[in-house]
Amino acid sequence: MPAQRKPKLLDGNKLSEIIKSELKNKIEELKQKGVIPGLAVVLVGDNPASQIYVRNKRKTCEELGIRSFAYDLPTQTSEADLLKLVDELNRNREVHGILIQSPLPKHINEEKVLNAIDPDKDVDGFHPVNKGKLLNGQDCFVACTPAGIQELLVRYGYKIQGKHVVIVGRSNIVGKPLSALLVQKAEGADATVTVCHSHTRNLSSITKTADILVAAMGVPEFIQGRMVRDGCIVIDVGMNRIPDSTKKSGYRLVGDVHFPSVFKKAKAITPVPGGVGPMTIAMLMKNTVKSAEKSTHRL
Ligand code: GUN
Repeated sequence: MPAQRKPKLLDGNKLSEIIKSELKNKIEELKQKGVIPGLAVVLVGDNPASQIYVRNKRKTCEELGIRSFAYDLPTQTSEADLLKLVDELNRNREVHGILIQSPLPKHINEEKVLNAIDPDKDVDGFHPVNKGKLLNGQDCFVACTPAGIQELLVRYGYKIQGKHVVIVGRSNIVGKPLSALLVQKAEGADATVTVCHSHTRNLSSITKTADILVAAMGVPEFIQGRMVRDGCIVIDVGMNRIPDSTKKSGYRLVGDVHFPSVFKKAKAITPVPGGVGPMTIAMLMKNTVKSAEKSTHRL
């Protein structure tokens, strides 16, 4: 019998539904113990993309039976007031996870606010304590997009050990933590990782050596077919709006990968939308449930 061929399109929507149904069982168990997982999602200002992300996160909480604490604050909120809210949420025992949607308005020091979150409630994995633990290979909250990418690869049955993973983009929320995650001596990791960025010379000569290529630089359709080798696994983290007069909205969503040319060469590829995005939200829910579970050990 021929070996079953793996699907070429890595369906983050479908996979996130499976993960969410697993989480529902855990949430039910927690409820039996009298603990309802709670996630506080704080939005400051009216950035349209952030509003959509936050709405999706809150909607998923409701879907799973996670208590959602919603804070929609005006753009002119002071840094002091935001720090005060973080302090209250740190002390609120019904809140197991705190997420401050980024970017914050310019007058607020984002680093200061993120550092004020209790690392035990930092379900975004942005606090230096969690980032340091990640580097050391200790148990911690891993940033949701890197965790979602790893989970997607593992659950689709792709071996990461020994593979050359090329990450294009060195952001604090994707590129850097993903490189730390996949280089670990651990299950679902053990990769050889190369991180490329805007100053990388001969980028194509490096991307062409990737077994797994992660595009996370935030430039629409930057990775072209000629930049990848045949049989590569391509993960597209990008989410960009580009003008399209054929659409009613006047725009369409594209990733950082030029899908038509890369699809032809890739062994597997994530679509945009419906690839990495839903996995990120699923990991946020997973981290919140993990935090609630840990809180039961502290009761
Ligand atoms: N802005 C863009 N992505 C993220 C994310 O994963 N978490 C938060 N808090 N803000 C973001």
